[in-house]
Amino acid sequence: MLAINDLSRLVRNERSRIMAAIARVVDRGWFVLGPELETFETEFARYCGVAHAVGVANGTDAIELALRALGVACGDEVIVAANAGFYSTTALRAIGAQPVYADVDQRHLNIDPAAAAMAITPHTKAIIATHLYGRMADVAGLRELCSRHGLALLEDCAQAHGARRGGIVAGAWGDAAAFSFYPTKNLGALGDAGLVTCPDDRIALRLRRLRQYGWKDKYVAIDGPARNSRLDEIQAAVLRERLPTLDERNKRRREIAITYAAVRHPAITHPDVDGDDYIAHLYVVRTSHREALREHLRGRGIASDVHYPVLDADQPVLCGQIARCALPVSAQATAEIVSLPCYPEMTDAEVSRVSDALATWKP
Ligand SMILES: Cc1ncc(COP(=O)(O)O)c(C=O)c1O
Repeated sequence: MLAINDLSRLVRNERSRIMAAIARVVDRGWFVLGPELETFETEFARYCGVAHAVGVANGTDAIELALRALGVACGDEVIVAANAGFYSTTALRAIGAQPVYADVDQRHLNIDPAAAAMAITPHTKAIIATHLYGRMADVAGLRELCSRHGLALLEDCAQAHGARRGGIVAGAWGDAAAFSFYPTKNLGALGDAGLVTCPDDRIALRLRRLRQYGWKDKYVAIDGPARNSRLDEIQAAVLRERLPTLDERNKRRREIAITYAAVRHPAITHPDVDGDDYIAHLYVVRTSHREALREHLRGRGIASDVHYPVLDADQPVLCGQIARCALPVSAQATAEIVSLPCYPEMTDAEVSRVSDALATWKP
């Protein structure tokens, strides 16, 4: 079976470099908040073209701590898309803030600035722009909207490492940006890891305090509610090894996406694959015969997935707590989306196998 992703292939290609990086940390005997993280933060900030990068334990913590550092508190409203996997909602619930769902645009399934504008109330504090599937949201439109209403803009870049619009990298548009380095991400660690970028010195300082008990100095807590959420030295060393190949691996992902998109089929709608603002984190097609397509692929030995099968607003855990808003575009997409294998280590033969399977499908 061709898996939706196969992380062992990447590790095999880079095994000696990764093992050397891990050995470097082990031999140094410094495992948390040390020189590897400090250097990775500098390198990642430079890559994104932003002043600050602050490592944290995972992408969900990155969203939560970024929102707290931007001043979002219990009772505030934050506007989010409902089709982005419940990560932002989880972070907002940890704060006690209220997610307010806005619909997405039909073309890219990213939060629509016009829909976000309609969701603004006197309680709104921020908007989260999740760059879904590796396609950047309309950050310029959202930036303008936030400036006009005095709101903070947080980018969720967990699926968009290295995407660029007008030469400006995802993570350099918002008041802050959250990254996940979960192993399947375009830049992935060997476990959980995350990071926040931001242009403002004071926000960065707050983040550094909030990720470690609210400490100003050792054992003296002056900010909060805070967390223990740190990106450890072994993961930072692994990420340092991988960052230099991110652009090259994104290029290969885009090549695969462009190959798939060339398959014409009356029952399949392909994603837009144009531009550097798409780095093919996921290749997601749409069809009104989803189960039939997945069954056909399975029969050809090809795995598929659905990102995501349940809208945030419909998650069972929320029952009765959040008003179900009208999200027609998000709801229809949720019923139609299918993710296909798309990762840099796929062989050309495997890419052709998936393309052929799409081309020969008879719904
Ligand atoms: C869009 C998005 N945001 C946030 C997250 C959360 O990241 P993590 O799993 O590292 O908490 C993920 C991935 O898992 C994601 O895809």
